[in-house]
Amino acid sequence: MPPQRILVTGAAGFLGSHLCDALLAEGNDVVGVDNFATGNNANLAHLHGEPRFQFEERDICQPFDVGRVDGVFNFASPASPIDYMRLGVETLLVGSAGTLNTLELAKRYSAAYLHASTSECYGDPEVHPQVETYWGNVNPIGPRSVYDEAKRFSEAAVAAYQRYHGVNTHLVRIFNTYGPRLQANDGRVISNLMMQALRGEPLTIYGNGLQTRSFCYVSDLIEGIVRLSKSEEHDPVNIGNPDEWTILECAREVQALIGSECEIVFKPLPQDDPTRRRPDISKAKALLAWSPKVSLREGLAKSLGYFRSCVAAEQA
Ligand SMILES: NC(=O)c1ccc[n+]([C@@H]2O[C@H](COP(=O)([O-])OP(=O)(O)OC[C@H]3O[C@@H](n4cnc5c(N)ncnc54)[C@H](O)[C@@H]3O)[C@@H](O)[C@H]2O)c1
Repeated sequence: MPPQRILVTGAAGFLGSHLCDALLAEGNDVVGVDNFATGNNANLAHLHGEPRFQFEERDICQPFDVGRVDGVFNFASPASPIDYMRLGVETLLVGSAGTLNTLELAKRYSAAYLHASTSECYGDPEVHPQVETYWGNVNPIGPRSVYDEAKRFSEAAVAAYQRYHGVNTHLVRIFNTYGPRLQANDGRVISNLMMQALRGEPLTIYGNGLQTRSFCYVSDLIEGIVRLSKSEEHDPVNIGNPDEWTILECAREVQALIGSECEIVFKPLPQDDPTRRRPDISKAKALLAWSPKVSLREGLAKSLGYFRSCVAAEQA
């Protein structure tokens, strides 16, 4: 495919910045947009001076236009429970007005469109592992609803722009992903455990630690997303790593990597915390010839240098 001009919203975030890197590496021109609600300029520092990368600081909840683009990747949204509960109304807005504004842009320029959706659309799932055809079990008014329902609205909006306006849309349902540039203090499982272990603090586990999660390393996720963006598929596709770990097992992996004998402390489980999460990735495998390659042990090791630098920055 010849090089394209591509818009990435949420470019200063964890996944957005890795996506910009991948798209630039393919030879494309990239326009990154972010309002720094939860993003970090440092995630894009290595792109300063890159002539094929342009950055605009803006809130996508306001209508905007960056000129003709061939593709739009909509990744703007607070993503961790700490962030979206602090920025509840902003999260609802970016998942509604923000998504509609980016869809309008794709429609205007006949650009392909990919939206970063989430496994949270499944809520606390009654079907395990989660398949794309499962409609989910979401509490519409609970503390997580600002995120879950915004993402579900976004999916409806994306499906409508495909159905009514013929936009070439793609929906990826992302499962827990980690790696360098993950916010160090955003309360997500891997960042929490890594930072606590590196600080020599006790590792915190919410509930009894037997709830499960599946963790995907960032390079695997980005590869799946780029493949999906080139496909003809409009319906949602799960991308994640189906290896299922209890939170307790994950804490033990972190302990083994860092060589710490940190104590583990148990705290009450937050409301509506899902008990099981694991993607069924049969569709991604068949459609995209994709499956994750990086094990949790390898991924944690690849992330260690980044988390060490975060702890060093705190202590400086
Ligand atoms: N990381 C994961 O495990 C995961 C899982 C499922 C879905 N996702 C989705 O992937 C996307 C990226 O997540 P992330 O982990 O990189 O989070 P992140 O917080 O690191 O990145 C999100 C970025 O969006 C920006 N943003 C938020 N509101 C905005 C607005 N109104 N206008 C412009 N920019 C705005 C933030 O400043 C930030 O840079 C999100 O849509 C998230 O819901 C992530």
